[in-house]
Amino acid sequence: MPNLSTIVAEIAAEMADAPDRGAVADYIAPLGAVDPRKFGIAVIDADGVCHGAGDAEEAFSVQSVAKVFGLTLALGAGGDSVWKRVGREPSGTAFNSIVQLETERGIPRNPFLNAGAIVISDILLGNRQPAEVIAELLRFVRALAGEDGIFIDNAVAAAEEATGYRNKALANYMRAFGNLHHDVDRVLGVYFHQCALAMSCRQLALAGRYLMRSGRNPSTGHSVVSPQRARRINALMLTCGHYDGSGEFAFRVGLPAKSGVGGGILAVAPGKASIAVWSPGLNDRGNSQLGTLALERLVQRTGWSVF
Ligand code: DON
Repeated sequence: MPNLSTIVAEIAAEMADAPDRGAVADYIAPLGAVDPRKFGIAVIDADGVCHGAGDAEEAFSVQSVAKVFGLTLALGAGGDSVWKRVGREPSGTAFNSIVQLETERGIPRNPFLNAGAIVISDILLGNRQPAEVIAELLRFVRALAGEDGIFIDNAVAAAEEATGYRNKALANYMRAFGNLHHDVDRVLGVYFHQCALAMSCRQLALAGRYLMRSGRNPSTGHSVVSPQRARRINALMLTCGHYDGSGEFAFRVGLPAKSGVGGGILAVAPGKASIAVWSPGLNDRGNSQLGTLALERLVQRTGWSVF
């Protein structure tokens, strides 16, 4: 295999010239203002070395990628009882779909759908204030990355709070089924601020290392989750991490990965690498167009597919 830094630099150069960059999400106003020419990639290898290129140091809105960290915390707090309120099956629907909730008693198919992550936010809330939950999330992600320069973009959270009609509908609908236990506005306060987590590709790849190291944070040696739980989170990322594009992503890339409408993707090559890519233009399933292409090329050149 050629040198990883060379591969990463080549991919960034190829993406700089890519003509079809997808469309930037504009239903959250601040995301619509992001330059579609941006592209970043960071690959942290098994030795902990970071290979970055392009805009790998620029913070972006990680959006649904943060659902991985929220799920990890909720499993820590609630253990397997989480699975009574959210499923583990791919939905085959868009990330913000409501249709299955009607016939499935308000229980979302998986924790990465918006509906699923709203239930996870309800679980995280417990008896706390939304600000305490978000402070815990931030502490957790900073500790995973070993860096403090990770923040919540309050303008992004406020924009979602102002226009998140679908999420409000999902939350109210699930509340009607008894699958939200707290006040809808407080649950959504957690959810919107979680989505507004802002990190660079390098920071995101650092934060994802526990998923490539059987649940251990390699910088501290601490166990973040058990090896079994790390495998299970990776399994959910593989089957559900790209919504109704999860099959296509597995076909093209073959790695557990979670996307966000900010154009970021966190991908895990178990035992080999933690990878983050970012390009704001999305495909028709709401997943980063060039992020997916870059990961496809990375896997072709490294042989890292899990299949
Ligand atoms: O709730 C929303 O619609 C956004 N905050 C997050 C959606 C998202 O990232 C879906 N990912 N591709």
